[in-house]
Amino acid sequence: MHLPLDRAIGVPIFRQIYDGLRRAILDGRLRPGQRIPSTRSLAADLGVSRLPVLTAYEQLLHEGYLVGRTGSGTFVTRDIPDHLLRSRAIGRLTPQSRPGAGTRAAPNQPSPASWSFPVVPFQIGLPALDLFPHAAWAKLVAREVRAETPERLAYGDPAGLRSLRVAIAEHLRTSRAVRCVADQILIVPGSQAALRLAAATLLERNDRVALEEPGYFGAHRAFRAAAAQLVPVPVDADGLNVAALQRRGASIRAVYVTPSHQYPLGMTMSASRRFALLDWAARHQAWILEDDYDSEFRYISRPVGSLQGMDARDRVIYMGTFSKALFPAVRVGYVVVPPPLWTRFLESRFAFDIFAPTLYQRSLAEFLKTGHFARHLRRMRSAYLERRDALLRGLERHCGDLVEVHNSDAGLHVTVLLREGLDDQEVAARLGRRGLAAIPLSNSYVGPVRKQGLLLGFGCAAPQRLHAATRILSDVLRERA
Ligand SMILES: Cc1ncc(COP(=O)(O)O)c(C=O)c1O
Repeated sequence: MHLPLDRAIGVPIFRQIYDGLRRAILDGRLRPGQRIPSTRSLAADLGVSRLPVLTAYEQLLHEGYLVGRTGSGTFVTRDIPDHLLRSRAIGRLTPQSRPGAGTRAAPNQPSPASWSFPVVPFQIGLPALDLFPHAAWAKLVAREVRAETPERLAYGDPAGLRSLRVAIAEHLRTSRAVRCVADQILIVPGSQAALRLAAATLLERNDRVALEEPGYFGAHRAFRAAAAQLVPVPVDADGLNVAALQRRGASIRAVYVTPSHQYPLGMTMSASRRFALLDWAARHQAWILEDDYDSEFRYISRPVGSLQGMDARDRVIYMGTFSKALFPAVRVGYVVVPPPLWTRFLESRFAFDIFAPTLYQRSLAEFLKTGHFARHLRRMRSAYLERRDALLRGLERHCGDLVEVHNSDAGLHVTVLLREGLDDQEVAARLGRRGLAAIPLSNSYVGPVRKQGLLLGFGCAAPQRLHAATRILSDVLRERA
């Protein structure tokens, strides 16, 4: 049985075994009623003494995940509470793997059919869908539908609609300090597609890709799907630890980062780290994949520019999305490609799906050109400030002694850390039963989980609902404390 263990991280071995087995049970790799190896044989498999295995088994027996039958061994219980299993749907998205060793398999990811994304308080990644200017958007889309001609219904440019690329380039230059022209912009169906495209274009099978740890589960999935080896690199208050990245060796081909607003912990990468990262990439001829997914929204300090704008050596591939600034179902994202890579990216872009649907591209180009987009962003900034403040006030009032707010300067979610001993998967599952949708922080780890916490989205719910939701969170946490 494969359980990733790492002696270097300070998490006791029995805890790593316990976590690994519990995960395997919850995400269905170990099935109800299945017999698990004896402590002696698992200890031998893992190359550890029997004591930590016994301790882990005892804990799992005590918590009811395992049952022992005298004389016939130890089995996964047939009565795992539904709410624990349901946590899979919310998001046991990231298989654990040994840090540094990487992994290609994704054995415990839920099937797409299990993906559910209700618009409820704390749902991560959703903007204020209730405040979207539907009437203006509907008018633009209807106008574009009426204007369809045989030419417009034929195949489109794999790079994307020219007028949209021009509008995006202008927006990125002025608001994100991205150095670009329209000829560098490729339109793709969201940043997930941008990640897949970058991986397909730049990586070979088994290439090593460094990622922030904890980091974005969508990126984990994209690189796993590309058969890359995932190399987690820790983050701290200044963002990705570049010294740790350097220690991972010279063979790293690419590094994925969220420098403007680290996903999930929320800090901004410091200027000195940015320079160090750019320097590292240039020296190693490695690529930097910059995911700038939600930095239109900053509440405290001035907007920070992109990492791409600081890069003079064409190492950064910048990607962005309209999923947060507008709505995810629009499925429009973009890649800013360094000129030397343009032809390769365009080839891959064609290979994937030739081109992205043009109706929304046209509507979006108009939305940007006619000023609707800038107006919408302005309105959303103040709406999100209000929503964030309602959430923070509620957290302080109802959960002040129970959670530590990690960072709340930007974006559409706040990450909170849970008190020692609380299990974020279980808390998230209980919140799910109460109609809320927090994502457990532990989903963001490629390697062993170091912190338990929750990602609390505040974009899609009105302030009063968020405040009320913190009361439910407090109840749930107190039940568990
Ligand atoms: C870090 C990060 N990148 C990208 C995205 C957006 O992905 P997409 O554009 O595919 O909707 C998200 C959405 O939650 C995200 O959290």
